[in-house]
Amino acid sequence: MLAAREHWGSRFGFIMATAGSAIGLGNIWRFPYIAGENGGSAFILIYLAVVLSFGISLVMAEMVLGRATQRNPVGAFRALGGPRWAFAGGLGVLTGFVILSFYVVVAGWTLAYIVFMAGNELATTESAVLGAHFGNFTSQTFAPLLAAAVFMAMTAWIVAGGVGKGIERASKVLMPLLFVLLLALVARSVTMPGADAGLAFLLTPDFSRVDMNTVISATAQAFFSLSIGMGVMITYGSYLQRDVNIPRSTLIIVLLDVGVAVLAALMVLPAVFAVGLDPSAGPGLTFITLPAVFASLPFGQVFGVLFFSLLAIAALTSAVSILEPMIAWAVDEHGIRRGVATLVASLVCLLLAIPASLSFGPLSDATLAGRTFFDWMDFLANNVMLPLGGLLVASFIGWRWSGPARAHLSNDGTLCLPWLSAWIWLLRIGAPVAIAALVWQAVGGS
Ligand code: PFF
Repeated sequence: MLAAREHWGSRFGFIMATAGSAIGLGNIWRFPYIAGENGGSAFILIYLAVVLSFGISLVMAEMVLGRATQRNPVGAFRALGGPRWAFAGGLGVLTGFVILSFYVVVAGWTLAYIVFMAGNELATTESAVLGAHFGNFTSQTFAPLLAAAVFMAMTAWIVAGGVGKGIERASKVLMPLLFVLLLALVARSVTMPGADAGLAFLLTPDFSRVDMNTVISATAQAFFSLSIGMGVMITYGSYLQRDVNIPRSTLIIVLLDVGVAVLAALMVLPAVFAVGLDPSAGPGLTFITLPAVFASLPFGQVFGVLFFSLLAIAALTSAVSILEPMIAWAVDEHGIRRGVATLVASLVCLLLAIPASLSFGPLSDATLAGRTFFDWMDFLANNVMLPLGGLLVASFIGWRWSGPARAHLSNDGTLCLPWLSAWIWLLRIGAPVAIAALVWQAVGGS
C-alpha cells in the first residue's frame, strides 16, 4: 500500500498545492475582518511576528513528520512514537471535520456570490443595500445550504479522484491567476476616493489597542491560515520526495500566504473606508464591501465574477486539503476505498454544516455563552483544537524525536542549517509554553 503512495510531480507543483492549502478563505475573507476588528496594522505586525517564528517552525515540523514516515497523521505519529501517540494524529482528523463543516458554509457563499455578480444583482455602491443583501441571503434556510452542498460535492469529487495530478495541476494554474487578480484589485481599492483613511488604519500602528486578545487572535489566525495543527502539512509532506529542501519550500509557502493576507487586507480595508463601512463589521466584510468596489469599476461585473470565482477556487484547494488527511487515514489505516471514505466523510461534514449555516438565520438566537453554533465551531477549531494539535507536534519533535528530525530536515546533513538548534528549542519550550498560555487564556476568557 505504501509503495503505491502518490508523490508530487514537481517542486513547483508541491509549492502551489501547499500554498493552495494555506491560501484560502483564511487569507481573503477572514484576515481582513479580524485585522479590522483588532485595530489594523498593530495586529498585522503581531501576526507577522507569530507567523515568522512559530508558524514557520511548525510547518517545517509537520512536513518533516510526513515526509519521514510517508503516512497520514495517525500513522505518522504511531510509526514514530508508538500507539500512545496515535491520538495526536486522531485529534487532527477530528479537527478536520469541525473546520470543514463551517468552511463549506462560507465557501458556499462565494459560489452564490458568483451567481449574484453574474446576474448583476449587486450593482450598487450603497453599503446598506449590500449589507441587507448579504443578511437576506445568509439567513435563508435552504439556499446557503444548497450552495454549501454544491461546494462539498466539488471538494469530494477532486479528493475522490486522487490528490496528485488533479490538485497539483489545477493549483499550478489557479494560484498564479489569483495573485495577478489580487494585485489588480488592490491597485483599484487603494486608489478609490476616500481610501486614505483605510490606508492610514493599515499603516499607522496603534499599540494602545493591543491586548492579550489581539495576540490570541493573531496566533489563532496564524494556525488557521498556515493550515497547521491538524495534520494537513503532515499529509502533504507525506507526498514529498526525499530530496526536497523543506526549509526553503516552507519559507516560500509561508511568504506567499502572508503576502496574500496582507494584500487582501489592502484590498478590503481601504475600500471599507471609501464606502463608509465599519472595519469591525465582522464576517460580512468581504461580501459587502467588495461588490461596492466592483460597482464603481468599469467592467466591474466581470471583475466581480472573476474575483468570487477565484475566491471559491482558493477555498476549494484549501477544502481539499482539509478533507485529505481523513481520507489518507481511512485508506492507509483501515484499507477503506478512497471513493467510499470520501463519500462518508463528506456526508458527515455536510450534516454538521447544517447547524453552522442555520446559525445565520433560524438558529441565530440559539446561542450558548453568546456564541452561535458557527461561532463555537470556529472558536473551538481555531482557538483550541488547532493550537493543541500544534502543541503536540512541537512537543513530540522537541522531546521525543529531535535527533532524527534534525537529520531529516537537513537532508542528512547535506543542507547547512545553522539555526537547527534554535528550531528544536523553539519546539521544545517556546511553542508549547506560548500555545498553552494562549489556549488557557482563550478558554478562560470565553
Ligand atoms: N488555510 C486555509 C485558509 O486560510 O483558508 C484553511 C485551512 C486549511 C485551515 C487547512 C486548516 C487546514 F488544516
